[in-house]
Amino acid sequence: MQFLALALALCASSPVTALPAKQTPLPLEDPVKSPFPIHHSCNATEQRQLATALQETVTLVSHAKDHILRWGNESAIYRKYFGDRPSLTAIGAYDIIINGNPETILFRCDNPDGNCGLDGWAGHWRGENATDETVICELSYTSRRPLSTMCSQGYTVSQSETNTFWAGDLLHRLYHMPAIGQGLVEHYADGYEGVLELAAGNGTEAVHDSETLQYFALEAYAYDVAVPGVGCVGGEDEEEEGDETTEEPVQDDQDETAEEEIPENCHTHEGGELHCI
Ligand SMILES: *[C@@H]1O[C@H](CO)[C@@H](O)[C@H](O)[C@H]1NC(C)=O
Ligand SMILES: *[C@@H]1O[C@H](CO)[C@@H](O)[C@H](O)[C@H]1NC(C)=O
Ligand SMILES: *[C@@H]1O[C@H](CO)[C@@H](O)[C@H](O)[C@H]1NC(C)=O
Ligand SMILES: *[C@@H]1O[C@H](CO)[C@@H](O)[C@H](O)[C@H]1NC(C)=O
Ligand SMILES: [Zn+2]
Repeated sequence: MQFLALALALCASSPVTALPAKQTPLPLEDPVKSPFPIHHSCNATEQRQLATALQETVTLVSHAKDHILRWGNESAIYRKYFGDRPSLTAIGAYDIIINGNPETILFRCDNPDGNCGLDGWAGHWRGENATDETVICELSYTSRRPLSTMCSQGYTVSQSETNTFWAGDLLHRLYHMPAIGQGLVEHYADGYEGVLELAAGNGTEAVHDSETLQYFALEAYAYDVAVPGVGCVGGEDEEEEGDETTEEPVQDDQDETAEEEIPENCHTHEGGELHCI
């Protein structure tokens, strides 16, 4: 009581109004700033989560680009995914995410095509209905992981889906939008093994393959940032032991349902990842 009396006395002598009777009209902090436009159909919490995930996407590809610029084909990770191909294309594919004009695309939350009602759909490109728009469904907010959990909770680069992390998932979605992928970044390989085969082959596609660009960015981040100098490639050990109980992380919600109802514009990837074009 003495303290309160003192506080009141001090306030009374100050020109500033005593206690904050009214709520300050504006929040003190700006909402999380998104690197890409987010439609007003996303509510406050969706906006913040999606903006954070898109920031992480930029973080992920910025690191990938820096890794290539610094090491080029001296990097074993580079050679693993891109072979001896020149690095310019991959650098550009990452840079357009970081420095391209973001206003050409839009992320929305209102399910305008009804696809979010389909079991296991975490989002989709709007295709012919709106070629610069991608819808993010509720499932994304509850299932996709932040990059800070890289190399934990059972995740390994070789055994887990690239969409385990929201940043990887969104990178894939960004490349499907013509303003970003430009029809050049496409699907030429499927899954970890497929991507390694593509790199080992004699074609030129590895440097503009959507999956390759995702895997490279994830492995470079795992090795350089998450567990420096170690990473979490996984794979060989589990296979040698023939351990069939090795579990994929739970993120793969699309697994069982994907095959049942695949629209014409979609294809499933190994492991049930659904891609709609
Ligand atoms: C935003 O929508 C999601 C459902 O997609 C809901 O869980 C969440 O509570 C909503 N947030 C606000 C602030 O209304
Ligand atoms: C690395 O790139 C240089 C050119 O930048 C090329 O001369 C060299 O053959 C490449 N090495 C490998 C192992 O691909
Ligand atoms: C485009 O809209 C039509 C009609 O609403 C819908 O049937 C179709 O699935 C939509 N396409 C995509 C890619 O969502
Ligand atoms: C690339 O490899 C395929 C088989 O893997 C072969 O048929 C083709 O001739 C090769 N092309 C060149 C240019 O070496
Ligand atoms: Zn795809």
